[in-house]
Amino acid sequence: MCGIVAYTGSNEAYPILMKGLHRLEYRGYDSAGVALMQSGSITLYKKRGKVSDLEDYCLTKDTSAHAGIAHTRWATHGEPNEQNAHPHLSEDHSLALIHNGIIENYLSLKKELQNRGYVFQSDTDTEVLVHLIKEVQQKDNIPLDEAVMLALSRVEGTYALAILSVDNPDQLILAKKGSPLLIGVGDNEYFIGSDGAPIVEYTNKVVYLEDGDVAVVSLENPLRIRNIRDEHALLKNPHYQRLEMTLDQIEKGGFETYMLKEIFEQPKSIRDSMRGRINLKKEVVSLGGLIEYEQKMMNAKRFIIAACGTSWHAGLVAEYLIESLVRIPVEVEYASEFRYRDPILYEDDVLIAISQSGETADTLAAVELAKRHGATVIGICNVVGSTLARETMAGSYTHAGPEIGVASTKAFTAQVTVLTLMALSLAQRKGTISKSMYHQLINDLESIPEKIERILAKEQHIQKIAQFVATRPNAIFLGRGINYPVALEGALKLKEISYIHAEGYPAAEMKHGPIALIDEHMPLIVIATEQLTYDKIVSNIQEVIARKGTIISIVTEGDTTVKGMSKFCIEIPRTEELLTPLVASVPLQLLAYHVALIRGCDVDKPRNLAKSVSVE
Ligand code: M6R
Repeated sequence: MCGIVAYTGSNEAYPILMKGLHRLEYRGYDSAGVALMQSGSITLYKKRGKVSDLEDYCLTKDTSAHAGIAHTRWATHGEPNEQNAHPHLSEDHSLALIHNGIIENYLSLKKELQNRGYVFQSDTDTEVLVHLIKEVQQKDNIPLDEAVMLALSRVEGTYALAILSVDNPDQLILAKKGSPLLIGVGDNEYFIGSDGAPIVEYTNKVVYLEDGDVAVVSLENPLRIRNIRDEHALLKNPHYQRLEMTLDQIEKGGFETYMLKEIFEQPKSIRDSMRGRINLKKEVVSLGGLIEYEQKMMNAKRFIIAACGTSWHAGLVAEYLIESLVRIPVEVEYASEFRYRDPILYEDDVLIAISQSGETADTLAAVELAKRHGATVIGICNVVGSTLARETMAGSYTHAGPEIGVASTKAFTAQVTVLTLMALSLAQRKGTISKSMYHQLINDLESIPEKIERILAKEQHIQKIAQFVATRPNAIFLGRGINYPVALEGALKLKEISYIHAEGYPAAEMKHGPIALIDEHMPLIVIATEQLTYDKIVSNIQEVIARKGTIISIVTEGDTTVKGMSKFCIEIPRTEELLTPLVASVPLQLLAYHVALIRGCDVDKPRNLAKSVSVE
């Protein structure tokens, strides 16, 4: 949901800003812009489209500057065009501002400003900020940071802001509430980013801004941070932290796309997510971040899992895992619905929020709601230092490494790995799992990375199947039990990157309506691995074949029954039923990937999407 980069220092700002925008482009890519401080005035370049379009446009322009701010946009208010692209300027062109978030009361503020004679250049919510800040600064004749604090006290919504001002050409004013923003501290130079990706190349000393913080970054004075929630507006001591990210992790490493790299990283990311959490003798599973809350979790009357998109699918898998192993009821909620549902929550409920980015607005709102009701709130997330990691009482990181492709792949399998470990650890302590079952699952879990390697080796075979699927306008994904969420995830992957309409269903639901869609043109991708309901799935497949549907199956190695009924078949290694989502999801990721490539889609940056949905 929009990426923010800013720089001030003795180096050329423009190349740093552009490289930073490329690294944040996964957050939005419908337009981009940059404001540069040049000889005491602000030069603005904006372009509809991707960051490379802005770069092409700037090829013939003067881009020399030592301070600047830049933005890559995912449109919320106003269509993606140059007018609506950030930065936005104050009327006298003395301030330039970039914003990530949503200003909820922008309409009333805009009306007020228009009544006072302001003429708006864009349809965005953001533009009210720059006019409001400038107005407060001029009216009260106060320093810019104070004007920002005063103006923001009138603003409802979420924001990460960076402001450039001609009055202090090497200074940046930053503010944060609800959207992420961090400051990289170099040697008398500062690198600002929505996450660590634009910063890591230059420094690993960072300050994560907190909600309500307003920071003044300048070359003359040390970093100054105050919080608008502090009525005395006292200066805070910046909390310097080490950025947990390496440059290799955010580069493509020889792969054509981030998505393919991330699919192939899964053996490693699953190993990393298990590392140090199973003891040497394999007798105990323990998640360090949860130890303090384990008792509460074991005594919980109910788990509520709140998440969005792929993370919600990981939550559905966890429902099967926890209910079957720990015997505590689980409800899985779309965070966006949960937050507005006036849900019934008790103090002995445990809410588990799952998010790759840790910045998904709806998931964070669910966390807030559960906290207000006194429930215990646990986070499972991938981005170290993200808002979710900071706002939950305890939690566990998935060690997937940065996921940059918009389609979530390695984050999903890492989430399922950590949720499996969590379920095993609770089951062990609660005594709801037999020793033999525990060892069976642990041994199998440890073999998953190697099994995924064997599936990845089938890429060419999957590519051939993709040729067929790529010609179809629709597809249906079927699964049962713990593989039903895998069907949902397979359908989401296909639709989000190839734009083929796809639906996931529990296989037995077909006859309650969707079977009407089946004819000779409809491909059905069925997860039919060895599981309790295997025979039932065989019957479901027969019902589809009777209506001339085309079966593409994911089966256990050695299967002959379903294979014999399928036009195409992908065999995957035999796995404990509860762990099959970890392996069965991988061929579906590869299938979606190759279908999208064949159809000429930009797999890393699918249309209309952004990686991190930090707005409602
Ligand atoms: O960062 P999060 O895990 O909270 O993101 C949730 C969804 O936006 C995300 O999983 C989305 O559905 C992916 N693009 C799916 O591939």
